[in-house]
Amino acid sequence: MSIRRLPEHLVNRIAAGEVVERPASAIKELVENSIDAGSSRIEIRLAGGGIDLIEVSDDGCGMTAADMALALERHATSKLPDDDIEHVATMGFRGEALPSIASVAQLTLESRVRGADGWRRRIDNGRLVEEGPAAVPPGTRVRVEALFARVPARRKFLRSARSEYAAALDVVKRLAMARPDIGFALDHDGRRAVSVPPGQTRPERVAALTDRDLADNSVAVDLVRDAYVLGGVAGIPTFNRGVADHQYLFVNGRPVKDRLLIGAVRGAYADFLARDRHPVVALFLDVPPTEVDVNVHPAKTEVRFRDPALVRGMIISGLRRALDAAGHRSAQPVATDALSLWQRDPAASQAAVPGAAMSGAALPGEDLRLWSAPSFADRRSGFVTPPPMARAEMAYAPPPETQSYPLGVARGQVAKTYIVAEAEDGLVIVDQHAAHERLVLERMRRALDGGRVAAQALLLPEVVELDEPACDRLEARLAELAELGLDLERFGPNAVLVRAMPALLGNGDVKGLVSDLADELAAFDQALSLKEKLDAVAGTMACHGSVRAGRVLSVAEMNALLREMEVTPHSGQCNHGRPTWIKLAHGDIEKLFGRK
Ligand SMILES: Nc1ncnc2c1ncn2[C@@H]1O[C@H](COP(=O)(O)OP(=O)(O)O)[C@@H](O)[C@H]1O
Ligand SMILES: [Mg+2]
Repeated sequence: MSIRRLPEHLVNRIAAGEVVERPASAIKELVENSIDAGSSRIEIRLAGGGIDLIEVSDDGCGMTAADMALALERHATSKLPDDDIEHVATMGFRGEALPSIASVAQLTLESRVRGADGWRRRIDNGRLVEEGPAAVPPGTRVRVEALFARVPARRKFLRSARSEYAAALDVVKRLAMARPDIGFALDHDGRRAVSVPPGQTRPERVAALTDRDLADNSVAVDLVRDAYVLGGVAGIPTFNRGVADHQYLFVNGRPVKDRLLIGAVRGAYADFLARDRHPVVALFLDVPPTEVDVNVHPAKTEVRFRDPALVRGMIISGLRRALDAAGHRSAQPVATDALSLWQRDPAASQAAVPGAAMSGAALPGEDLRLWSAPSFADRRSGFVTPPPMARAEMAYAPPPETQSYPLGVARGQVAKTYIVAEAEDGLVIVDQHAAHERLVLERMRRALDGGRVAAQALLLPEVVELDEPACDRLEARLAELAELGLDLERFGPNAVLVRAMPALLGNGDVKGLVSDLADELAAFDQALSLKEKLDAVAGTMACHGSVRAGRVLSVAEMNALLREMEVTPHSGQCNHGRPTWIKLAHGDIEKLFGRK
């Protein structure tokens, strides 16, 4: 086989494979070019999720006709004047985007430098088809039509217009968040989706582009270490989400999805959040350009730091410090010196526990006490609530001695999270939330076997505001959600109306449930029915149902939960495969006390 140099159009197409994966990646490159051109306003128009049309217009410096020809050549860039790859200050520098996009679509480039005439070039899948003067305003407009229409292998990998649009919206939001000084507008199929004015502050921009509740549920992050500066906002742990999509990370003004940074954020929240919950953050890290290499990924979304440990440490301490300063006590890991921290709460010991005397337990009156424990890392909500109490509540009625239950009789609740029960052969501890999740799943399975899950109408329908792709995803699944007892209706572009909730959830948290489900749908393969993902859906529903960690249960409720677990198949493990209860046999207890 002889070696040959590949022709230019093939080289471009190969590069396009890395740089232009889908409409969102083309949009990212074009908007980055507009930012680099010093624009103060950038407008993006999309049709069909960007597959049919992407148009990016800016009021930046523009290009001369000669520059336009060069811009469409591979490795032609105006951005490395000194060949200094160590000090990249622009978003782009590889000189690949325009020729790559032009090789897999119809591309129209129109541009005008202030004080000169405008010019237009049209390229059809790598071939110049038209060029000449154009009456255009100063700045640049790039139109990309029929992306991948002539590259069926790539076209095949595109998802629906709806998902491509969701990805595009995400890219635009991230770039707009990186540059609050620039105004952005995004239209999709003729409807305005994003509109932010130039000259905003960073917090204003973050607030404008994220969940409107974030402002009230976040703290400012602000940490400087030598030439490293970390700023932004961090959602408080209780304001968590079911997916990690709501984490906006920037390095030197560049949106990144970097594993080191994502891991550091996870680490900072690890003690406060369950493994399957994710915080909402917008973090901006600025470091000297020589300390970071942005040229490790064709789309420049990953970076390499010279001192990764320093960066990781900064993110973790920046976040922790911000959260602590806001008056939220950090939760202690359960195992460490938990016992030594137990202390008597004198005020609480005065409060008589009604019914305690009736229990006939042989405890001196003084022993009716409340213990305050170190705060347990609550699955969802322990963090901002006052430190959870370990409550030794006595059973209200003597346990029925006539019958013995495998999971025993409830004796009390610990950390508003665990039920402590006494069984014939030992002590049983139940994770009430995990157990409830499992019961909800099993009840849903049974209900679905018999048709559908019963719905209970809300007294007043509730409007839940979400972003447009989230509403789209829910809308696409209305019939399936109705089968699961959740009655929804589209309510304008950015909201859904909830009419009924699954009856088995009781008076759950409607907004939390709907927004978590919308998040979750993004992660589901469109081909899968919700029934096939029932574990996840039921888990999400149970999370927002009536019984969860952090809720005080009455003894009757606890016993009801135990009895239901005993008759429910698979109730021994939660939907994530963790145990829902553990038993400490009498023999084990004796061993612990050295009696054996
Ligand atoms: N919107 C724009 N306004 C002004 N100049 C632009 C614009 N888009 C592209 N260019 C010019 O075209 C060149 C090539 O762009 P591109 O292929 O994206 O490579 P890069 O951005 O890596 O330089 C840029 O260096 C810039 O000079
Ligand atoms: Mg570029």
